[in-house]
Amino acid sequence: MGSVDVIFVHLLLAHLRSPREAVAGGTRALAPGGVMLIDEVETIETDNELLRDYLGLANHVVAARGATMNAGPLVADLGSLPQVAMLSSEVVEHSVAVSEAVEMFIMKFRAIRGDPSLREDFDALDAMAHGLRRLRGAAPTQRVVWRMRQVALRAS
Ligand SMILES: C[S@@+](CC[C@H](N)C(=O)[O-])C[C@H]1O[C@@H](n2cnc3c(N)ncnc32)[C@H](O)[C@@H]1O
Repeated sequence: MGSVDVIFVHLLLAHLRSPREAVAGGTRALAPGGVMLIDEVETIETDNELLRDYLGLANHVVAARGATMNAGPLVADLGSLPQVAMLSSEVVEHSVAVSEAVEMFIMKFRAIRGDPSLREDFDALDAMAHGLRRLRGAAPTQRVVWRMRQVALRAS
Protein backbone atom coordinates (compact mmCIF):
# COMPACT_ATOMS: atom_id res chain seq x y z
CA MET A 1 0.00 0.00 0.00
CA GLY A 2 1.56 3.31 -1.07
CA SER A 3 0.93 7.01 -0.66
CA VAL A 4 0.84 8.41 -4.19
CA ASP A 5 -2.39 10.07 -5.35
CA VAL A 6 -1.78 10.24 -9.12
CA ILE A 7 0.66 8.56 -11.50
CA PHE A 8 0.68 9.62 -15.17
CA VAL A 9 2.24 7.19 -17.63
CA HIS A 10 2.70 8.67 -21.11
CA LEU A 11 4.52 6.88 -23.94
CA LEU A 12 6.66 4.98 -21.44
CA LEU A 13 5.33 1.40 -21.54
CA ALA A 14 6.36 1.18 -25.20
CA HIS A 15 9.97 1.07 -23.99
CA LEU A 16 9.61 -1.62 -21.35
CA ARG A 17 9.99 -5.37 -21.74
CA SER A 18 7.37 -6.08 -19.08
CA PRO A 19 4.83 -3.25 -19.21
CA ARG A 20 2.19 -5.18 -17.24
CA GLU A 21 4.62 -5.82 -14.38
CA ALA A 22 5.71 -2.16 -14.46
CA VAL A 23 2.09 -1.02 -14.14
CA ALA A 24 1.48 -3.53 -11.34
CA GLY A 25 4.52 -2.14 -9.49
CA GLY A 26 3.29 1.40 -10.02
CA THR A 27 -0.18 0.65 -8.69
CA ARG A 28 1.37 -0.69 -5.47
CA ALA A 29 2.75 2.82 -4.90
CA LEU A 30 -0.77 4.29 -5.05
CA ALA A 31 -2.68 5.31 -1.94
CA PRO A 32 -6.14 3.74 -1.58
CA GLY A 33 -8.29 5.59 -4.14
CA GLY A 34 -5.20 6.86 -5.97
CA VAL A 35 -5.29 6.73 -9.75
CA MET A 36 -2.91 5.78 -12.53
CA LEU A 37 -3.58 7.44 -15.90
CA ILE A 38 -2.02 5.70 -18.90
CA ASP A 39 -1.75 7.11 -22.44
CA GLU A 40 -0.04 4.80 -24.94
CA VAL A 41 -0.14 4.25 -28.70
CA GLU A 42 -2.82 1.83 -29.87
CA THR A 43 -1.99 2.30 -33.57
CA ILE A 44 -0.38 4.85 -35.86
CA GLU A 45 -2.18 4.89 -39.21
CA THR A 46 -1.34 6.54 -42.52
CA ASP A 47 -1.92 5.90 -46.22
CA ASN A 48 1.56 7.16 -47.02
CA GLU A 49 3.70 4.21 -48.06
CA LEU A 50 7.05 5.72 -47.07
CA LEU A 51 5.77 6.55 -43.60
CA ARG A 52 4.45 3.03 -43.27
CA ASP A 53 7.92 1.74 -44.17
CA TYR A 54 9.49 4.13 -41.65
CA LEU A 55 7.05 3.02 -38.93
CA GLY A 56 7.93 -0.59 -39.73
CA LEU A 57 11.61 0.19 -39.07
CA ALA A 58 10.78 2.02 -35.84
CA ASN A 59 8.66 -0.91 -34.64
CA HIS A 60 11.50 -3.26 -35.50
CA VAL A 61 14.09 -1.28 -33.51
CA VAL A 62 11.83 -1.17 -30.45
CA ALA A 63 10.99 -4.87 -30.80
CA ALA A 64 14.71 -5.72 -31.03
CA ARG A 65 14.95 -4.46 -27.44
CA GLY A 66 12.11 -6.69 -26.32
CA ALA A 67 9.48 -3.94 -26.14
CA THR A 68 6.32 -3.15 -28.12
CA MET A 69 5.88 0.29 -29.67
CA ASN A 70 2.10 -0.05 -29.77
CA ALA A 71 1.68 -0.74 -26.07
CA GLY A 72 -1.99 0.31 -26.04
CA PRO A 73 -3.43 -3.16 -26.67
CA LEU A 74 -1.28 -4.51 -23.82
CA VAL A 75 -2.79 -2.12 -21.31
CA ALA A 76 -6.40 -2.49 -22.44
CA ASP A 77 -7.05 -5.30 -19.95
CA LEU A 78 -5.14 -4.03 -16.93
CA GLY A 79 -8.34 -4.05 -14.89
CA SER A 80 -7.52 -7.69 -14.12
CA LEU A 81 -4.56 -6.61 -11.96
CA PRO A 82 -5.03 -7.26 -8.23
CA GLN A 83 -6.19 -4.39 -6.00
CA VAL A 84 -7.08 -2.27 -9.04
CA ALA A 85 -10.32 -1.19 -10.68
CA MET A 86 -10.51 -0.05 -14.29
CA LEU A 87 -12.31 3.30 -14.28
CA SER A 88 -12.17 3.76 -18.05
CA SER A 89 -10.45 2.51 -21.17
CA GLU A 90 -10.94 4.29 -24.47
CA VAL A 91 -9.15 5.12 -27.69
CA VAL A 92 -8.73 8.78 -28.62
CA GLU A 93 -7.68 9.83 -32.13
CA HIS A 94 -5.27 12.63 -33.04
CA SER A 95 -5.05 13.45 -36.75
CA VAL A 96 -1.84 15.27 -37.72
CA ALA A 97 -0.77 16.62 -41.13
CA VAL A 98 2.00 14.49 -42.66
CA SER A 99 3.94 17.72 -43.38
CA GLU A 100 4.10 18.39 -39.61
CA ALA A 101 4.38 14.83 -38.30
CA VAL A 102 7.36 14.19 -40.56
CA GLU A 103 9.53 16.63 -38.56
CA MET A 104 9.38 14.22 -35.62
CA PHE A 105 9.90 11.18 -37.87
CA ILE A 106 13.00 12.83 -39.41
CA MET A 107 14.53 13.33 -35.96
CA LYS A 108 13.69 9.79 -34.89
CA PHE A 109 15.00 8.34 -38.14
CA ARG A 110 18.37 10.06 -37.56
CA ALA A 111 18.49 8.34 -34.17
CA ILE A 112 17.56 4.83 -35.33
CA ARG A 113 19.08 4.51 -38.80
CA GLY A 114 22.38 3.28 -37.39
CA ASP A 115 20.76 0.71 -35.13
CA PRO A 116 22.55 -2.67 -35.42
CA SER A 117 19.21 -4.50 -35.59
CA LEU A 118 18.43 -2.94 -39.00
CA ARG A 119 19.36 -4.93 -42.10
CA GLU A 120 18.57 -2.25 -44.72
CA ASP A 121 21.59 -1.17 -46.76
CA PHE A 122 23.03 2.34 -46.70
CA ASP A 123 21.40 3.39 -50.01
CA ALA A 124 17.94 2.28 -48.87
CA LEU A 125 18.33 4.25 -45.64
CA ASP A 126 19.54 7.31 -47.56
CA ALA A 127 16.53 7.04 -49.87
CA MET A 128 14.23 6.95 -46.84
CA ALA A 129 15.93 10.03 -45.33
CA HIS A 130 15.48 11.86 -48.63
CA GLY A 131 11.85 10.75 -48.96
CA LEU A 132 11.03 11.86 -45.42
CA ARG A 133 12.45 15.34 -46.10
CA ARG A 134 10.32 15.59 -49.27
CA LEU A 135 7.21 14.93 -47.19
CA ARG A 136 7.68 18.36 -45.62
CA GLY A 137 5.81 19.52 -48.73
CA ALA A 138 2.95 17.00 -48.45
CA ALA A 139 -0.59 18.27 -49.05
CA PRO A 140 -2.58 19.11 -45.89
CA THR A 141 -5.02 16.34 -46.81
CA GLN A 142 -2.29 13.73 -46.16
CA ARG A 143 -2.63 12.71 -42.52
CA VAL A 144 -1.13 10.50 -39.84
CA VAL A 145 -3.62 9.37 -37.20
CA TRP A 146 -2.36 8.47 -33.73
CA ARG A 147 -4.93 6.31 -31.94
CA MET A 148 -4.08 6.54 -28.25
CA ARG A 149 -5.29 4.07 -25.63
CA GLN A 150 -6.21 6.03 -22.50
CA VAL A 151 -6.75 3.97 -19.38
CA ALA A 152 -7.59 5.12 -15.86
CA LEU A 153 -6.95 2.68 -12.98
CA ARG A 154 -7.90 3.20 -9.35
CA ALA A 155 -6.30 1.45 -6.41
CA SER A 156 -8.77 -0.14 -4.00
C1 LIG B 1 8.66 8.82 -25.70
S1 LIG B 1 9.51 9.34 -24.25
C2 LIG B 1 8.16 9.98 -23.30
C3 LIG B 1 8.64 10.92 -22.26
C4 LIG B 1 7.52 11.56 -21.39
N1 LIG B 1 6.84 10.54 -20.61
C5 LIG B 1 6.57 12.33 -22.24
O1 LIG B 1 5.44 11.93 -22.42
O2 LIG B 1 6.97 13.36 -22.79
C6 LIG B 1 9.86 7.78 -23.50
C7 LIG B 1 10.62 7.89 -22.18
O3 LIG B 1 10.84 6.59 -21.66
C8 LIG B 1 12.10 6.58 -21.02
N2 LIG B 1 12.54 5.19 -20.91
C9 LIG B 1 13.02 4.39 -21.88
N3 LIG B 1 13.33 3.17 -21.40
C10 LIG B 1 13.04 3.20 -20.07
C11 LIG B 1 13.14 2.26 -19.01
N4 LIG B 1 13.63 1.05 -19.22
N5 LIG B 1 12.75 2.63 -17.78
C12 LIG B 1 12.25 3.86 -17.56
N6 LIG B 1 12.14 4.81 -18.52
C13 LIG B 1 12.54 4.48 -19.75
C14 LIG B 1 12.94 7.42 -21.94
O4 LIG B 1 14.06 7.94 -21.30
C15 LIG B 1 11.98 8.53 -22.31
O5 LIG B 1 12.05 9.60 -21.39
